[in-house]
This record gives sequence, C-alpha cells and structure tokens, in this order.
Amino acid sequence: MEPATYYLETFGCQMNVLDSQLVAGQLRTRGWRPVRDPFDAQLVLFNTCSVRQHAEDKVLSRLGELRQHKTRRPDIIIGIIGCMAEREKHGLFVRAPHVDLLCGPGELDRLPALIDEVAERHERVAALAGSFSRRTEVLQRALEADSLEALDLSRAPDTSESVLQSYIRVQRGCDKFCTYCVVPFTRGPERSRPPEHIVQEARMLAERGCREITLLGQTVNSYIHQEAGRPVPFAQLLERVQAVEGIDRVRFVTSFPADWDDDIFRVMRDYPKIMPYLHIPAQSGSDRILKAMRRPYTAKQYLDLMDRARGFMPDVSLAGDFILGFCGETEADFAATVDLVRRVEYKSIFVFKYSPRPGTAADRLKEDDVPAGVKLQRNRELLAVQAEISQRQKQNYVGRSFEVLVEGYSKLARRAQRAAAAQENSIDAIQESEQDRGAEISSERSRQLVGRTTGDLIAVFDGSPDLIGALARVRVRSVTPLTLHCELVEVTSPARPVAEASPVSADSAGEPFAADRVGLKLRVVSTPTSAAGLNGAGTLPQL
Ligand code: 5AD
Ligand code: SF4
Repeated sequence: MEPATYYLETFGCQMNVLDSQLVAGQLRTRGWRPVRDPFDAQLVLFNTCSVRQHAEDKVLSRLGELRQHKTRRPDIIIGIIGCMAEREKHGLFVRAPHVDLLCGPGELDRLPALIDEVAERHERVAALAGSFSRRTEVLQRALEADSLEALDLSRAPDTSESVLQSYIRVQRGCDKFCTYCVVPFTRGPERSRPPEHIVQEARMLAERGCREITLLGQTVNSYIHQEAGRPVPFAQLLERVQAVEGIDRVRFVTSFPADWDDDIFRVMRDYPKIMPYLHIPAQSGSDRILKAMRRPYTAKQYLDLMDRARGFMPDVSLAGDFILGFCGETEADFAATVDLVRRVEYKSIFVFKYSPRPGTAADRLKEDDVPAGVKLQRNRELLAVQAEISQRQKQNYVGRSFEVLVEGYSKLARRAQRAAAAQENSIDAIQESEQDRGAEISSERSRQLVGRTTGDLIAVFDGSPDLIGALARVRVRSVTPLTLHCELVEVTSPARPVAEASPVSADSAGEPFAADRVGLKLRVVSTPTSAAGLNGAGTLPQL
C-alpha cells in the first residue's frame, strides 16, 4: 500500500506503550506519517488492553465513534491490535463490523503485510496466535519468538522521538496463570530475550540520548536466559544493563513475589545506577484469597520479602497492586489486606476492582459474588489507608534534597503554556488533575519543571528549559498529596546535546509518557485508582 497517514492510540500497560513505539517505527520506516486526529487518518489502529472489562469497553466506545466515518470513507483501514484482538479473535469482526484488521500482540511483526493485504484485497485479515493450525505448537512458538525478536531489534527511534526515558522488553508472556488474569492467554508463554540483545538495545538508546531505562516483563524477576550453556538470571542482566555507558538510571517492572532471588537486592544495593524502587504486586493480604488466586506465597512470606528489601536498601520505595472483591472475599479477607498495606508502608499502591475475564480459571470456576457496591467501598477504604500512609511519609521529606532526572515541563506548566497560547485565563480550564490542585497559575508556573527522584517521586521546581534532560539536585520546600514542591540546588550532570529532549507539544500535554511524540496517543484506561499512584509519596529515597 502507498504510504499515507496513520493514527495509533494505545490503551493499557507499559508493554503496550512499547509495542506501539515499535509499530510506529515500522510504519515510519515505510513512509507513513502520524496524525493526531483519527478522522484525518487513512489507517486507524487501536492497541488494546484486556486486563479488565472497563479497558475493553473503552475501545469499543472509541470504535463506535468511527462507525459513521467508515461508512462515508470505506477506503480507510481500521485495525485492532494487541490483547483484545487476541482475546476476542474473529468475534470482534461481529461486534464491530467496520473493523478491517486484527493483530495479536505476538504477531505485530506481520502488521505492515496485513495492512497491505487489506488495502489490496479489500478483505478483512486477522493474525492471531494459533492461526497457523498446521504447524506444531513448538515450531509456531519458535517462529513467533524469532520474528518478534526481529521486531524488537529493528527498533530505530527517529529524531522526533524522545528517548530520554525508554522501555526495553526483557521478557514476553507469562506462565503464572493467576486465576483472574487474561495475560497468559493473550501474550502467550514466558520467554526471556537474549541478554546481548537487551544490552545492544540499551547501547543504541544511550547513543540517541537515553539516560533512564525501564526493563519490562510481566514477572521480570523470573527472567532467565541460557547463554553458551550457562544461565543468565535477572540479577546478572541488571548488572550488565547498568554498565552500559550513558545510561544513568535503570528501573524494572513488574516483579513476582515468589521465587525471589536475593541477588537482585544485592545488585540494587551495590550499583547506584539501579534505582531503589520495587513494584511487587501482593494482590491480597489474605492467604485464603491468595490461594484462590493461585498466587504461590502467603502474606507472611510477602511481608518477609518486603523486610528483606528494606534490610538491603533502607530507603527503597515500594509499590504494589491489589485486587479487591475477588470471588469469595469476605470482610475478614479484606481486613487482612488492609493490615498488609499498613505493615508494608508502600510509597504507592494500585487498586483494582475484580473484573471477571472470559476464559480464565476464576471465571470458569468461581462466582463473582462480591457486589459492585462492596468492591467500590473496599476500594475507597484501602486508598484512604494508603493516602494516610503517604501523607505521613511525605512530611518527612521537607528540607531534604533528592536527585531527579528532569523530564520536561510540569503538567501545570504545560497547561499554563497552552492557556497562554490560547489567551485563555480560566483556571477551571487549566486545573484538570489532582497534581494541579491547590497550585496557582501564574507566568512563573509556565517555567515549572518536573522530574522523578530515584525512588520515583514526582518533584516540581522552577528552572530553565535547558535543564530538561539533566540530572539535578532539588530540595523539598513543601509537599502536596502527589507532588514534592522543590527548589533547584545544583545541576549534577547537564543535559546531553541530543535531538528533541524537549518539552512535549501543546496538544499532548497531560499524557504521562513520551509515546505521543511519535504520533501515538496513550490513553491509560486501565488506570487503577491509586493512592499516591504514579506521582505518589514514598519512603525515603536514596540521597
Ligand atoms: N480484575 C481486576 N484487576 C486485575 N488485574 C489483573 N487481572 C485483573 C482482573 N481480572 C490487576 C492485577 C495486576 C494488574 C496489572 O492488574 O492487580 O497486577
Ligand atoms: Fe497475570 Fe499473574 Fe502473570 Fe501477572 S503473574 S501477568 S497477574 S498471570
């Protein structure tokens, strides 16, 4: 097909954000140009999430908006890629007859060919796992792994893409089969990428200006790869990635609490470039519920793990996920979860109301018997408990200093810039988020920068735009629920002269990732309600 314009919108997790970056790269190298409005595009792609029903409903509603448009412009191509395509398979063509293309997360390397096929044959096409029925499963997986590896390796960010903070996939899929979770069905079995490929990708990104890398895996700590007959476990991978010249910070998400290797704590303690931040979902504090979820640990084992983390790194920031209202969850089970949250003293938690997913063991075997109102009430209660903890932790930060990587203008500054550009003075129009609450809009605010501490706390402070991309030390003057309000102390490492480590453009303001700088739009529709979530308070980060 002749290259033209595309619109790509991303729903869900970081893995999807990365997949979208790779898809955008494929389209770009074939001459396609991104646009910000789906109604201006010849190709509309939704990269979807299936982890909760709400995420899927969002996609269906976005698709609904395009139904009329497709009737008027039958030549445009509408594609659903990612987990929802994989989960619903051809049924999606029935639910949304104006969709032309389905492509599962394990088939994304085939996407350009699929687009050509739709354009040439004017027929619907689908590439989903298992669609090659004649191949043996083993062969199929091997082929899939190779071609997907090629997709990751083909990554070539162009100058319009900010790579200051980048993701690298270290692992695909998941083998844990927690009873509530759809991921093993949509993303397939767990496979670890070769360490040399990961290091090579880190080097390439560093050469293009990347300073912070986040390694991605569904259960990232279970990473293991055979190299010349010897296993490379996750702790060794971390050591190798942090050694890449130009990379100043390494993070990793998400960890699985069972089968933990304390060598990971050791390398985190011994290498300052590995950030003292751990996201280790507990999901519940009740042993009965953990068992029903098929999570292979007890609350006590989980608490021991958290204690060991703090034993190695007293200042580590801890984050966790919780599902409330799982099948059979009683008040006593919920009380056990509240108790665990109080004991751990997380920096932030992500809380989800249980959403039954078709095809999972829980959906087949258990009844979704906790009423919606009770789930909501428990959700609120747990967030309130965490908010109290976060508030208490944060008070201790006033007067302390932290190193931050300066990411760009704060949301508030971006909004102020937008508002100024539109000659618009309404505070209501500008104050859209929690983060902005209580802040005043003034011309000074348009210079407010934002960065993250080593422990992943959001810090805002006034400074000049040439600090974007620098490492700087800031001192906390005051705190609000989600933000440290700071002053600049010193620049510890200036921004490196690279293309486009610059503020995001006006219409992408408010999006948490840089993905939209390459024409991607990120909608985090599966965002949990989070107490001090993405921006939250934390335990004392390293000084
Ligand atoms: N319902 C609610 N939350 C879920 N999660 C995964 N599956 C479900 C589900 N069916 C949550 C878990 C996981 C996070 C990414 O999403 O807490 O850690
Ligand atoms: Fe889902 Fe469990 Fe795998 Fe996480 S570990 S992706 S919750 S099955």
